[in-house]
Amino acid sequence: MSERYTVTAALPYANGPIHIGHLAGAYIPADIYVRYLRLKGKDVVFICGSDEHGVAISIKAKKEGITPNEVINKYHNIIKKSFEKFGISFDHYSRTSSIIHKTTAQDFFKKMSQKKCFMLKDTIQYFDKEHHQFLPDRFVTGECPKCGYENAYGDQCEACGSSLNVEDLINPKSTLSGNEPTQKSTSHWFLKLDESEKFLKEWIDSKKNKNWKSNVLGQVKSWLDEGLKPRAVTRDLNWGIPVPLKGGENKVLYVWFDAPIGYISATKEWANLNNKEWESYWKEKETKLIHFIGKDNIVFHCIIFPAILKSMGDFILPTNVPANEFLNLEGKKLSTSKNWAIWLDDFMIDFPGKQDVLRYVLTVNAPETKDNDFTWNDFQLKNNSELVAIYGNFVNRVTVLIHKYYRGVVPSKNELNDDDNYIFDQLTKAPIKIGSLINEFKFREGCKEMMNLARIGNKYLADEEPWKKIKNHTKRVETIMYNAVQIAVSLAFLSAPFIPETSEKLLKILNIKIYPTWNHILPNKIIKSGHEIGTPKLLFDKIEDEQISIQKEKLINR
Ligand code: MF3
Ligand code: ZN
Repeated sequence: MSERYTVTAALPYANGPIHIGHLAGAYIPADIYVRYLRLKGKDVVFICGSDEHGVAISIKAKKEGITPNEVINKYHNIIKKSFEKFGISFDHYSRTSSIIHKTTAQDFFKKMSQKKCFMLKDTIQYFDKEHHQFLPDRFVTGECPKCGYENAYGDQCEACGSSLNVEDLINPKSTLSGNEPTQKSTSHWFLKLDESEKFLKEWIDSKKNKNWKSNVLGQVKSWLDEGLKPRAVTRDLNWGIPVPLKGGENKVLYVWFDAPIGYISATKEWANLNNKEWESYWKEKETKLIHFIGKDNIVFHCIIFPAILKSMGDFILPTNVPANEFLNLEGKKLSTSKNWAIWLDDFMIDFPGKQDVLRYVLTVNAPETKDNDFTWNDFQLKNNSELVAIYGNFVNRVTVLIHKYYRGVVPSKNELNDDDNYIFDQLTKAPIKIGSLINEFKFREGCKEMMNLARIGNKYLADEEPWKKIKNHTKRVETIMYNAVQIAVSLAFLSAPFIPETSEKLLKILNIKIYPTWNHILPNKIIKSGHEIGTPKLLFDKIEDEQISIQKEKLINR
């Protein structure tokens, strides 16, 4: 039986649209990986959905003067559409406000309670008397004890970047009423994470040399070295999944408790809709579970969620969590609140049809091993000097010449020389080379290898100069053009995980209707002499300086 994969991408908060940092961090790498697995013929389910609970949603509702429900409906739809536009090929995009998720998360909570995974503990918390409400850390502002900034949040100071404890704020104020909050005791369920420490240490140790990224292992180890403490998994909020136990009235599950369970409820929903069963994707030990996330999510996916899964008894643990570092924009940290971002819906308006260009640029520039920078100049450069000048140019030359010399019919392969054999050799190795890079989550390198094929093709044509030989060496030109077509075919298939729309267009131009599995993307197998190709068409076009200046202006004038 072929291997089974459950691939997830972090559930985005439904409190705002998606920007390029999100795409580069989790969704593009996940999509490349999944498209590759599918082409390999693997059994894979690719799961995502909107994260619709937590304080982030309440804050947004307050800011926009609408209800949390209106917030999540609005952004769930915007986000879902953006993903579709960019070709992120989820098998299912769900949402955590669904009924199936509520029951699944509550079920986890009840079972874990029976298994004594929790302890009840009293804590003192800020309370707004006027609003009769406990205040989440984000709802309290005050003076930062570290730098003196007056408007620091209870959990974080945006001026100096320190993470804070709400009790340490000087002159705390409730953001609801503006008044000084009072303190009140409240009791909460705490996950006894300390009891999972030993197993987590052994589990993480077993991941050495298993293709885990060093940034991920490093972060997890430092958490484990500090020692794990019980962690509250309920909140006094009116937005979220109700705590399904006695004493849980007016309390909800902590968003980071319910959200990762969302991967499971979404899989159930997908299974129901598609007449499949969900359990083998989460419970059979042959299944590989891969979480794609950004680095700020590591602790939740490598410590807390595994502890939850393990405590349930029959769930598998993640095989890998290939978290990316952060993407910056023009040298500065991307920030939703400061509006320092490129929003996908804006991009689509300004650059219609150019989603593959963005996919390409974000892939070859991905923050895989360190933070990386997106600049508009680089975006233009990579479009003009790589996609247009290398990939597009090569394809165009090949297809135009085949039409010009042979009315679109692929000529015969005659005698081969060393240069031709070199081409075949490169094409034969390409699927293995690119495939193993993707398998190791090295998408940048994989994508560069793909582009290399186009480079090789361009060089081949430039060296062989068929346009000079067409008069006197017709046999030789037939071979050259036959080989050039073979390169274009490999390029069409091997670029599919990275720039899927372009790949499809190219397959159409080449009039290819068979779909080999990845390892069978080989020269001489897919298109032979006598095959008729379609009409040449430009795959990419130049981006002018003017368009780039407009984007830079936009950023400055925010
Ligand atoms: N909404 C979170 C964020 O954007 C990610 C949640 S991932 C999940 O940072 F595992 F909890 F679903
Ligand atoms: Zn500060």
